[in-house]
Amino acid sequence: MKTTAIAPSNIAFIKYWGKRDEKLRLPTNSSISMNLSHLFTTTTVEFSQQYRQDTVVIDGTNERREAERVVGFLDQVRHRSGSASFARVESVNNFDKSAGLASSASGFAALTVAATSAAGLMLSEKELSIMARLGSGSACRSIPAGFVEWKKGRSSATSYAETLFPADHWRLLDIAVMVGAGAKKIPTSAGQRLVWTSPFFRTRLAGMDNKNTRLKSYIKTRDFPRFGELIETEALELHTVMMTSAPPLFYWSPKTVEIIQAVWRWRQEGLPVYFTIDAGASVHLICQPTGQIAVKTKLKQIGLINYVVNYPTGGTRLTDHHLF
Ligand code: DP6
Repeated sequence: MKTTAIAPSNIAFIKYWGKRDEKLRLPTNSSISMNLSHLFTTTTVEFSQQYRQDTVVIDGTNERREAERVVGFLDQVRHRSGSASFARVESVNNFDKSAGLASSASGFAALTVAATSAAGLMLSEKELSIMARLGSGSACRSIPAGFVEWKKGRSSATSYAETLFPADHWRLLDIAVMVGAGAKKIPTSAGQRLVWTSPFFRTRLAGMDNKNTRLKSYIKTRDFPRFGELIETEALELHTVMMTSAPPLFYWSPKTVEIIQAVWRWRQEGLPVYFTIDAGASVHLICQPTGQIAVKTKLKQIGLINYVVNYPTGGTRLTDHHLF
């Protein structure tokens, strides 16, 4: 059977960085994110006895390392469904995946829903989130809708993501500003292995439960200034751990710093906008609809026109629009 799924990427406000179980991708802390309406992956999967091997094409190319990770995931789906058939997988991102915009999150969420459904498995949202986590940790947060929490859990069965609030709870805008720094030098999985080498990682971990609790209450009450201050602190803390790992992980480019400083300047001038940054040079600007035009004007003034405007959206869904 052939099945296609569309999955949104997500932006983490409280970040996942560090695993306590590498293979099961169990995180060292819980994290909170929002699904992004205009950054997504579409994936079609077909299992067939006609196929003599798995074929994996992502954005028109067959890159060995990516394909191996997908095949590893297909093996888990086959194991669970009792099928022995090979699969054809085609996947397209509507964005440039080298920009560090969490393509593994939308990628593995779409693959999870398409592949399990194509294999005839009927899984609950919770089971899909757990499966997606095994492909890439942040992918488990792209399965449920809206504002999402991934509880770290105690075991594989208890580490999954759930909707905290639906997408229409709060119309926050995420303006993802692409900063071309070329392909990421260190993939996130390898980068996360280094967390314990940072002298600040233990300190970070000690504060994570409190941060998650505070962020949830700020989202609940739509307290934008407190929410914004907290997500900026969190992003800077994440990058402090990255930069002080051995070897250091330095994802920023001069443009990244320029945007951070511009955001602080714009706020002083009275424009409510905050930033967060994942494992890349690109910066996500978070504002409310009333600030959208002003933020776009400011970006243009500093020569930045390459961005995608997102609002909160639903989770991963099936579609009839197959890629082959
Ligand atoms: C910085 O989910 O890509 O985006 O589980 O090894 O595939 P793996 O890691 P991945 O890490 C994402 C890290 C982050 C923060 C976040 O999304 O929470």
